[in-house]
Amino acid sequence: MKIHVKVPATTANLGPGFDALGLTLNLWNEAEFQCTDDSDQIAVSVQGEGIEKLPQNEENAIAQAALMIYDLAGKSCPGLRIECLNRIPLGSGMGSSSAAMLTGMLGANGLLGNPFTDEEILKLAIETEGHPDNVAPAMLGGLVASIVHNERVFSMRLPTKANHGPIHATVVLPDFEFPTQTARALLPKTVERSEAIFNLSRVVLVTEALRTGNMELLGIAMKDSLHQPYRLPLIPGAIDALKAGKDAGASAVALSGAGPSLIAFSPKEDPVIGAAMEAAFATADLDVRIFELGTSYEGAEVTIVG
Ligand code: HSE
Repeated sequence: MKIHVKVPATTANLGPGFDALGLTLNLWNEAEFQCTDDSDQIAVSVQGEGIEKLPQNEENAIAQAALMIYDLAGKSCPGLRIECLNRIPLGSGMGSSSAAMLTGMLGANGLLGNPFTDEEILKLAIETEGHPDNVAPAMLGGLVASIVHNERVFSMRLPTKANHGPIHATVVLPDFEFPTQTARALLPKTVERSEAIFNLSRVVLVTEALRTGNMELLGIAMKDSLHQPYRLPLIPGAIDALKAGKDAGASAVALSGAGPSLIAFSPKEDPVIGAAMEAAFATADLDVRIFELGTSYEGAEVTIVG
């Protein structure tokens, strides 16, 4: 039996929804899981993103997540072959580590005949990965809000207005290392009440703009005072690229997750937006990769392929 797993990219924060909101993007990692007779041998093959960096053995994050599920299920892992096709760039702010965590957990759960429910997998993945704002939309699909209450995570899909058509996202990824840990360490531990109010008031309107498809409202509301002011200045060219995207016609531009990529939302694809942002990063001597993506209302998918 083989298990095929598809997990999407996600963009967290959406400006003011720091650590709370995330949205699924139409860019998918895929992996195929199969038990083998080589007991205890974990063979991982990687194609696509991260091919030069990712370990192709049991040190691989997908293999580690799979082994955790075997362990929690009280089963010993037979030999395992995992073939990965990665499309989500690593360390980009598009949820690659959450995708890896979910991929491994869902693949192993599938091979074991689903001892854990989807809800349990989601909880485990959030506890292990630590970022509900990427993990939850990757699992559930669409726009997802998460809270932590008494050490429990509650994640809920919020409505987005399908008949406005999916909103287009231009993700511009500069060639710049900006690990999430570094990006979090920069943030102050306390904030002014005015800054909290700035974000609280706007995040509600971001969800409303996405529900109604009101792109003008999205542009007004997608601003942040809790994380972007500390992060953007450290990514060369990012402040200018954010402005350039808006000047070129994007409805709203924000840091995608903790960065370094920026995400520009527009009613439809328009290459002018990515080109303008690329030019701004070029003045800071950074090359970029541009991803023209739809948003997705589907989350992770597991199928038995024979
Ligand atoms: N919300 C997190 C942050 C990113 O901005 O640090 C989750 O990937």
